[in-house]
Amino acid sequence: MRETPWWHDAVVYEIYVRSFADSTGDGVGDLAGVRSRLPYLADLGVDAIWLTPFYRSPMADGGYDVADYRDVDPLFGTLDEFDDLVADAHGQGLRLMVDIVPNHSSAAHPWFQKALNAPESSPERDRYIFRPSPPGRPDTEPNNWLSVFGGPAWTRLPDGDWYLHLFAPQQPDFNWNNPEVREDFLTTLRFWLDRGVDGFRIDVAMGLHKAEGLPDTALGFGARSPIWSRPEVHQVFREWRAVLDSYPGDRAAVGEVWTDSAEDLALYVRSDELHQSFNFAWLEAPWSAGAFREVIETTLAAMRAPTWVLSNHDVVRQATRYGEGAADPGAGLARACAALLAMLALPGSAYLYQGEELGLTEVKNLPSEVRQDPVYFRTKGAMPGRDGCRVPLPWSGTAPPFGFGSGGSWLPQPPEWAGLTMERQMTDPGSSLSFYRRALAARRSLRGTLPDTITWLDAPAGALVFSRDPLVCAVNCGTDPVRLPPHERVLISSAPLDGGMLPPDTGAWLLRDRPLTPRPRSA
Ligand code: NOJ
Repeated sequence: MRETPWWHDAVVYEIYVRSFADSTGDGVGDLAGVRSRLPYLADLGVDAIWLTPFYRSPMADGGYDVADYRDVDPLFGTLDEFDDLVADAHGQGLRLMVDIVPNHSSAAHPWFQKALNAPESSPERDRYIFRPSPPGRPDTEPNNWLSVFGGPAWTRLPDGDWYLHLFAPQQPDFNWNNPEVREDFLTTLRFWLDRGVDGFRIDVAMGLHKAEGLPDTALGFGARSPIWSRPEVHQVFREWRAVLDSYPGDRAAVGEVWTDSAEDLALYVRSDELHQSFNFAWLEAPWSAGAFREVIETTLAAMRAPTWVLSNHDVVRQATRYGEGAADPGAGLARACAALLAMLALPGSAYLYQGEELGLTEVKNLPSEVRQDPVYFRTKGAMPGRDGCRVPLPWSGTAPPFGFGSGGSWLPQPPEWAGLTMERQMTDPGSSLSFYRRALAARRSLRGTLPDTITWLDAPAGALVFSRDPLVCAVNCGTDPVRLPPHERVLISSAPLDGGMLPPDTGAWLLRDRPLTPRPRSA
């Protein structure tokens, strides 16, 4: 029987490096900080970690503006420290994925600096997307495209040419029709694979190619847009897959792919392309059994090894999202824990974001002088941006920086986090952390024993009930308690059960009594 590759059902923990743990006391997390906390992650029960960019960068977008793809920024450490981190992670049974940012570089990248000093239509400018104004309209952008971060997607140089940046002006988009660009990224992939990484998370994977002629558009993320999900991107990922497959040990790639439909998403995970793509529809679904069911059905109909994700460094934390509009202030976290059980019960792999296990909520009251997200500044504060989910983690102690480091934290932590530190939650069986640890352990105990398909069971209005026999997962998104389906025993629940009833905002895993026959999996 073919072994299941590790990524197929892995739980991957996203580490937003600058906010995880700071070893130097400069207020910014770093690689040595991550290394010091590996025992915590191994003990939490995740299979792999994904590190957000730690490459040389002026940090105009938290490191997603890369000036050197093959070196560590001194803010985060050194290449030697990276190697130590990989070795330690592997020693503790954790796989390690790194972020690749191929849509754009930093404006400080040597190629872009050369392009700035090169004439129009030069080979140096051809690595990026430079265009003149439209004929007869000398002061107009080459087209109507907008930056994802707000404002136009074009910035003009003194010589009159404009360059494209789908994100901040400090993040010029590469020209993926240029063979040097393609070749250089293959070199970057090999560089990190040679250092032992288990895979890559690919930033803005659906953006690399733009439609010929760069036509105006009003379309969103759909495959018909001239900006996103162009057919040519798939050839890039076929080349990348061949590189990954040329290394031993099931190296894998997950794409950050925003699309309009599960069908479009599935195109990225064809057998000769990426292994996975983030399933953002799951994260976007509101707290509703109907909405969850629809996402599950469309996902499973389109993909064999899907992913599930509720949170990352770009979105409002789920304990806040699910609580919006709820009368009970604890509803957000209760629902987040119940949703975790649904996610961990589904076939495929699950991505967690640092701090969700602590039940952290979005920090909404950050003063503008500490904010750093370009989204906030480019929209002149109309959009708060993503700093609120990036506040450094509380590890221990009773006052900021809560063990994050010895020298403060680059974003201020709320004093209330004194009650949410890892240290405090670890010894409290009723804490969110203890619940996550139990849930991850329960998932591990079932690993390899469940079918890759689910069966929907009759569910009272407002509830979601499905089975991967012998596991039954029930989540109550309604306002009244519902009767639990028949079961031999309760494996875990996100809140105390009320006899045979599942209270609102609660999830449970039930087990039917049946012998479990494990399937083989790769180490
Ligand atoms: C997606 C990343 O997750 C986000 O943080 C970043 O700002 C954009 N891509 C641009 O690189």
